[in-house]
Amino acid sequence: MSSPSSAIPIPSRRHDHYYQSPGSPTSPLTSPNWRVLSLSNNPNDFLPSKVLQPFATDEIRLLLLENISLEAVQAFKDEGFQVDHFTKAWTEDELVAEIGNYHVVGIRSKTKITERVLKAATKLLAIGCFCIGTNQVDLLNAARAGIPVFNSPFSNSRSVAELVMAEIISLSRQLTDRAREMHDGTWNKVSKNCFEVRGKTLGIVGYGHIGTQLSVLAEAFGMRVLYYDVLNIMPLGSAQQVATLGDLLGQSTFVSLHVPELPETVNLIGEAELKMMQRGSYLINNARGRVVDIPALIGALEAGHLAGCAVDVFPSEPGSNGAGAFNDQLNWWSSKLRSLPNVILTPHIGGSTEEAQRMIGFEVSTALTRYISYGTTLGAVNFPEVDLRAILADQSSFIRVCHIHKNKPGVLRQVNEILSDHNVEKQYSDSKGDIAYLMADISGVSQADIQDLHDRISRTRSNIITRLLT
Ligand SMILES: NC(=O)c1ccc[n+]([C@@H]2O[C@H](COP(=O)([O-])OP(=O)(O)OC[C@H]3O[C@@H](n4cnc5c(N)ncnc54)[C@H](O)[C@@H]3O)[C@@H](O)[C@H]2O)c1
Repeated sequence: MSSPSSAIPIPSRRHDHYYQSPGSPTSPLTSPNWRVLSLSNNPNDFLPSKVLQPFATDEIRLLLLENISLEAVQAFKDEGFQVDHFTKAWTEDELVAEIGNYHVVGIRSKTKITERVLKAATKLLAIGCFCIGTNQVDLLNAARAGIPVFNSPFSNSRSVAELVMAEIISLSRQLTDRAREMHDGTWNKVSKNCFEVRGKTLGIVGYGHIGTQLSVLAEAFGMRVLYYDVLNIMPLGSAQQVATLGDLLGQSTFVSLHVPELPETVNLIGEAELKMMQRGSYLINNARGRVVDIPALIGALEAGHLAGCAVDVFPSEPGSNGAGAFNDQLNWWSSKLRSLPNVILTPHIGGSTEEAQRMIGFEVSTALTRYISYGTTLGAVNFPEVDLRAILADQSSFIRVCHIHKNKPGVLRQVNEILSDHNVEKQYSDSKGDIAYLMADISGVSQADIQDLHDRISRTRSNIITRLLT
């Protein structure tokens, strides 16, 4: 067992690879307080675990649309799943005709999984959105049908953080203005108001997945890092948390925003906050368009109070690529913003890299495989998040019950009565809205018992889907 000091002291965060556990160590790579997690999130990861097989389910068939990465396709094939892979999005009618043959569907943003599609999806167990957003899926009706939906919200954090570093240096050196002049044939060699970033202060608003990545990169460039967050978060490196947004704005040369769009973050940076920023400082917004009051930002730039800004996200964004799409019909101030010097405008590309796409493929295929093979719903966006540590290879008489049911009083009593002839080794249940999910590992189960357990639990009044993994 490693000592506490040799474990990596990163605080608990929702999807990080380390988490703080008060429990006793259970593997060679744990310490009393820190436990290293693999992608399965099981503390017994480093002990051989039993490979579970779905009971009474045909061969698992996946429908992958919209050219999902070949790495993901291969990962599913390696699991023994049958994969049908198509490059295009499917229409609602095409889906309705075919989806009844599949246990899993993987899509990006163009395929719509509507209520009608879900009604036709008689075998469907899970949906994977190989992208960030999940608006294209009727999440509520999917949950009611017992279908968890997985996505990949944090695969592009590093890509965004790297873009911010590029923007910090570009703003500080007026790089995009010089490049534009050269493309116009103008030679304009200047050093006035161009600065190194070393020794300057970066203020990060929102110290989550992206904010923390940026913190590490900025310190490597010799910058002093401050951050403001509504949560108390342990700093990385020498970064320092400040108590108020005002403290951060007043001390920073660069302010970079990394908060989600919430009612309380709309116009988080408006006229009053811009005034709190230092004269000659820079604002960077790669978070969400409505976090900044852009007319107020234009005012601060025109007054010379800010020396520049970078904006990747806008209150209204064009639905498709094309010349002239970013115009005054879309946002009335667009041409004004485009005309200002040292203003970097990008078309919401913060997370758009090949690496992020590959990570999305890996993360979503892992989540789907874990759900199909082990029942784990960690990371599901519309479903209670439930997980159990692995059944070990030598626990051959153990089986796993995965029972999705309506969230009604008395269900657990009923199910536990059915399980009462066996030893319930571990169980965990959680609910979200109308839907509840129970996972239980039971031992001393003979082959003859399995069908009986499956039938009796499936017949309970609140049952939605019951799967046994044996
Ligand atoms: N430009 C792009 O292409 C792109 C790509 C990915 C993510 N994003 C956006 O970046 C933002 C941050 O993403 P993330 O993955 O780091 O999110 P995250 O959830 O990991 O972190 C957000 C942090 O903001 C904090 N926060 C929430 N409200 C706050 C407030 N009022 N004041 C201060 N802090 C507050 C939270 O506590 C959290 O620590 C999101 O809006 C996301 O949509 C943009």
